[in-house]
Formats: sequence, C-alpha cells, structure tokens
Amino acid sequence: MCGIVCYIGSRPCVDIILQGLTRLEYRGYDSAGIAVHDGEMLKVVRAQGKLVNLGTALEKTPLAGKLGMGHTRWATHGRPSENNAHPHMVNGVAVVHNGILENHLELRREIEQTGATFSSETDTEIFAHLISAALEKNPDLVAAVRQVLSRVTGSYAIAVIAKSDPGRVVVAKNSSPLVIGVGDGETFAASDIPAILKHTNRMVFMEDRELAVLTAEGFSIHEIDGPEITREPKTIEWSATQAEKGGYRHFMLKEIHEQPRVMEDTMRGRVSIEGSGVATELMGLDDLSARRVRRIVLLACGTSYHASLVGKYWLENLAKVPTEVELASEYRARNPLVDPNDLVIPVSQSGETIDTLEAVKVAKEGGASILAIANVLDSAIPRASDGSLYTHAGPEIGVASTKCFTAQLTALFMLAVHLGRRRGVLEKPRARELLEGLLKIPALMREILNDSEHIEELARELASYSNCLYLGRRLLFPIALEGALKLKEIAYIHAEGYAAGEMKHGPIALIDENMPVVVVMPTDSSFNRISGNVQEVLARGGRVIAVGTRGEKTLDALDVKRIEIPACLQELYPILAVIPLQLLAYYVADFKGTDVDQPRNLAKTVTVE
Ligand code: M6R
Repeated sequence: MCGIVCYIGSRPCVDIILQGLTRLEYRGYDSAGIAVHDGEMLKVVRAQGKLVNLGTALEKTPLAGKLGMGHTRWATHGRPSENNAHPHMVNGVAVVHNGILENHLELRREIEQTGATFSSETDTEIFAHLISAALEKNPDLVAAVRQVLSRVTGSYAIAVIAKSDPGRVVVAKNSSPLVIGVGDGETFAASDIPAILKHTNRMVFMEDRELAVLTAEGFSIHEIDGPEITREPKTIEWSATQAEKGGYRHFMLKEIHEQPRVMEDTMRGRVSIEGSGVATELMGLDDLSARRVRRIVLLACGTSYHASLVGKYWLENLAKVPTEVELASEYRARNPLVDPNDLVIPVSQSGETIDTLEAVKVAKEGGASILAIANVLDSAIPRASDGSLYTHAGPEIGVASTKCFTAQLTALFMLAVHLGRRRGVLEKPRARELLEGLLKIPALMREILNDSEHIEELARELASYSNCLYLGRRLLFPIALEGALKLKEIAYIHAEGYAAGEMKHGPIALIDENMPVVVVMPTDSSFNRISGNVQEVLARGGRVIAVGTRGEKTLDALDVKRIEIPACLQELYPILAVIPLQLLAYYVADFKGTDVDQPRNLAKTVTVE
C-alpha cells in the first residue's frame, strides 16, 4: 500500500509532489523517491526511511522541472532500502508502482535471460525494463505501457515518465487506487484524494484496467486494451482531514471497510484453484520440510493471539499437526520445552512486539524452526525468523487491530491448506473446495459492510451498559474473545469472551437484565448446542444479540436481537463473523465519544516489557 503523486503543468513540481506525499505517508514510509523531467533530462532522487530523509537528499541534489512523480513506499517485495525505493529507472524510463505483481518471478527470469541486470529486489523494476525494451521497437510511450500491461498479472497503480517524452505522464490502474486531479493548466494524479486536494477538488476516479495520459492541458482515459472512455470530473467537498480518512470518521472505520480489499491482497498470487494448493512465498518453509514438522507452536499477543487460536483449529483439522498457542509473554517466561522438530510461528502485525520477539529468541535457542506471520516487511520478528509469510494489509493506523486480524486469519488458513496438501492429509477436491470458499469471502464481507445500519442501532443500546459477555464455540470462541477485546479497548466497557460451554461452570451467575450477551452463532455443527446456551441466558433474563447466518429459522423463535451474516463454508465463519463485532465496538465507542483511533493507555506497537 504505497502512495503515488504525479504533476504536470506550469509550476515547479518538486514541492507540490513532496507536499502530496506527506499527505500519503499513512500509506507507508519505508522509503520515498521522486523523478523529475527538466525538459531535457530525467533525474531521480531516493532515500530510505521517512519523507524527511527524501527532503534532506533533495537539499543535497536539488531537482527542477514541471513534470514529475513521487512515491512513498510500504515494502512488499524487497526490504526497505534506497535501492528498493521507487521510482525505478531503466534507460530513461522511470516508474512508480503501488500493488503486487503475481507473475514477477517469471518475468524477471525472462528479462535476466536477455542479459539485463536488476538494481533492486522489487517487482516494480520489471515495468521499467519491459517498457524501455518496448520503446526501443516503438517510440510511443503509451503503446509501450499498453504492451507491458498486457503481460503482467496482479494489482497495480503505476505512473510512467520517459526522457524521450517530456510532455506526458502515463498512469494505469488495476485493483490499486488512482485518482486524477484536474487543475487549470495543470493535471495531477495520486493514490488518494488528500495528496492533491489543496490544488484542485475536481477529481476523476480511474477504474480497473484503465490507462490515462496526463498532459498540462488535461487528460484522456482509455481501456488498457480498448477505446477511449469519456468521464467527467466530480467535485469533492471533503475537508483535508476528512479526505485523509477516505471520508470515514476514523481510521478504524476506514480500516474495517478496507478488509475485503486487504484479504484479496493477502491471497493475491498465492491461491491456485487449478493446483488446489497455496503457492506461498514461505521462505524457508520448504527447507524445513513440511512433512517433518511434529508440532506447531503459535506465539502472539492481543488480537494476533486470537487469530492464532483460530489458526490452531485450522492447522489441526486441515493439516493434522498438533498445535499449541501461547501468549508470547507467558511462553518466554516459563522455560518452555522446545523440540528441534517444532515449527514455531510468531504472529504479529507490527513484527516488533517485544514479548513475541523475545519468545522467538527462546524458541530459536531451543532449535525450533521459525516462520513469521507479519504485516510489516523486514521488521524485527521476520528478521529473527527463518522464513516469513507477509499479510500485505498495508499500514494499520487505528490502535485497535481490525484489517490485520482478518489478514492474519487469511494467512493462517492458507498455511493450513498448504501444509495439509504437502503432508498428504488433505485431499485435492477438499483443498479446492476450501480455497474456492476462501476466495468468495471478500464479496461476502462487502455484503456485511454495505448493510451495517442495524449494527449502529444496536450499538446505541449497548453503549448504556457497563459490562458485556461474548460467547462462541469451537473456532468461533476466539472470535468472541476478539469481539470482547475490541469493546474493552475502544469503548472502555468491561467485556469478557467465554466458550459458551463454560457458562454453566460459573459465569452464568452474572446473567440478569443488566448483562448483554453477544453470541456468535452462525449455522454450523455447533449451532444446536449454542442455541441451548442462548436459551439458558434468556431464561435468566439476559439480553442477547445473536450474530447468526442470514435466514436461519431457529433464531426466529428466540427472543434475541439479530445481526445477520451471509452463509459460507463453516470453517470460514471466523473471518466473516468478526466484522459485525468490530463494527459494534466501533459504533459503541463513537456514541460514547472515546478517542477511537488512539484509545487511552494503549500503544499501537508494544515495544516495552
Ligand atoms: O503488532 P502485534 O500484532 O504483535 O500486536 C499485538 C497486540 O499488541 C495487538 O494485537 C493489540 O492487542 C491491539 N491493540 C489489538 O487491537
């Protein structure tokens, strides 16, 4: 999830681009760079780290020109470094890119066979090589970009400028955002509105598989492999702050709504229906030989711990590997027994949580193999591990983790299917069914997100209580824990998640009309049992909010408030069922007026012991 800003017009472009990038830094800050055409030459300046470093680099090597583009990077392929920073330039062609190319290894091999050498580890550099090669045969930049786009698969928003073409910027998009800003004698493009809103509020939103040509006078949009399209600019009335949050009130709400797209990014290039398998970039796992693994130990904290609890269920059921889940802070403190045949999987959004990092060190000393599931590329935990499976969720700004939770679940599910196949315990047709089910989840998430007014109403009621119980069974018990954690951390309401079967062993004593109970009960093989638990709560005057499958008749007969989710494979309900719980906590917190994105006493990354 990188940020792109382009400018072509009559003003010096460097400051305009730098200011635009500042408004996009929330999209990533591993490195930044800028390319400017000064009428004769194309020059690039790049720096590792935050934008301030690019500013310093530009003081040493100033650039001047009225056509340029900049990039702030969230690393996916290739660690954060100056060499991996965009723009990538090959023979007078500069490219910036946001997205993930699926067939980059294949294309890289092909380019290397021609004798060309790469100066970065990125997938993006492929564009620069291929476009410059195409220009050698046909000097038209638009034709060259078109030709190359017909060869790549995956997600991209790209901007391309060439030394040989001082009057045009070519941009294109597929699955990654790109908006064109129409000024007076100047034209802009950016990954997101805030980057250019200061200069114009007339915006044209590009759709997937479209290419646009920007000149100082205006723009034209075309299908990548088809005719020109007519599209009028829209006038954006947002303030700059509203625009940064994509029009949402808080980053957390924006991130909740990003989940379908994030899940698609986590799966991108990894799920193969034809092969009924998962082509992962599980660096190191092949060497570990999946068949040899006798036990898996998942190490995590907070929300990542809840994802790991669901992961245990999948790893044991689909890959048939005995799996334990440990709170990292406890594991590191208790001299755990580590076996060299253990596969230890730290799960962490930030990749920097100190307890998880220290727990990894303990496991490593014991001789275990380590495979990190992390969101931030090249962070401390992946660096300390033998291999990494990245979630590609982009930066998460809200302290309460939402999109990274569903991305972790997606990664764990893919890993379970991968191991199941490699260990020969998961039949091909079943793997295929599971992966087809997984691919359908983003569309089902969108259905929930597009119909959330009812959840807002329920939240208004819940906001007046001081306690709340969350119940679930089997792989939905961790979702009850996660729902309770969300309510605690942003709405400051005491909430507990319980395995529904444990109610009668104690907590049922708490039930009365002042105790709302949220029950996660989609229609699955535990449904009858958990319906019995709901009856027990209702009989004692408890108030129930049931998260159930749309159209489930049994719920009609129960005196409960309902939140409906669409039907899916029962193994996949955790990924869907958590979304209404995130929304419920969000709306309760918003009604109470808490600081949703930065709740009191919490830090996004816990790097102190
Ligand atoms: O970055 P990590 O995934 O390692 O962070 C773990 C926890 O600190 C984190 O999940 C925390 O519980 C969040 N505030 C939950 O919303």
